Amino acid sequence: MTETKKISLLTIIIITFSVIIALLAAYILLVYELPSKKLAGQGTTIAVNDQIGGNFTLKDHNGDNFTSENLKGQLSLIYFGFTFCPDICPASLEKLSRVLSALEKYQIKVLPIFISVDPNRDNINILKNYLMYFSPKFIGLTGTEDEIKHVADLYKVYYNKVSSPNEVNDYMIDHTSFVYLLNKQGKCIKYFYSSSSADEIIEYIRIHKND
Ligand code: NI
Repeated sequence: MTETKKISLLTIIIITFSVIIALLAAYILLVYELPSKKLAGQGTTIAVNDQIGGNFTLKDHNGDNFTSENLKGQLSLIYFGFTFCPDICPASLEKLSRVLSALEKYQIKVLPIFISVDPNRDNINILKNYLMYFSPKFIGLTGTEDEIKHVADLYKVYYNKVSSPNEVNDYMIDHTSFVYLLNKQGKCIKYFYSSSSADEIIEYIRIHKND
């Protein structure tokens, strides 16, 4: 082997090695880093280092004002949905009520909040009756279309009305189904996917209750 050939072989080895390292690094980043740093909504991807949450005023299911200030002093779990939702919302609320019962055994107080993305249909009474079915602890929040849009934007929540051609009041709403965990200062510290299990949420809150 000539000197030139030796050098070019060495170059190829170095390049190959570098490519392997780069691919490995990219793979590790993709598998371990990105899922915890991005919010993947329907058609949207949001970096978590963007500020999530902020100031808002809505009405609770008793007709009283509820503001972001009410989120301070205890942990909160926030979920956006609508009471006419046939599957994801009932399943998520059922899961959250199991989370609440389990955390109660560990003496961890969490304020569970359901924010309606369907203010036209979800009036105070509908919200109240609906949430009572899952847990009397739930606080249902609603408001005007603009108020809901404002709070949804703060939490990077996507929702979109899908109308039925036949009935004006017969429509579905595509929506992001994350569960947001807020610390005692009212700051979002974690979000869970609709695929996150109750045990996963319980464990996370037990470990991070004082974050
Ligand atoms: Ni839903």
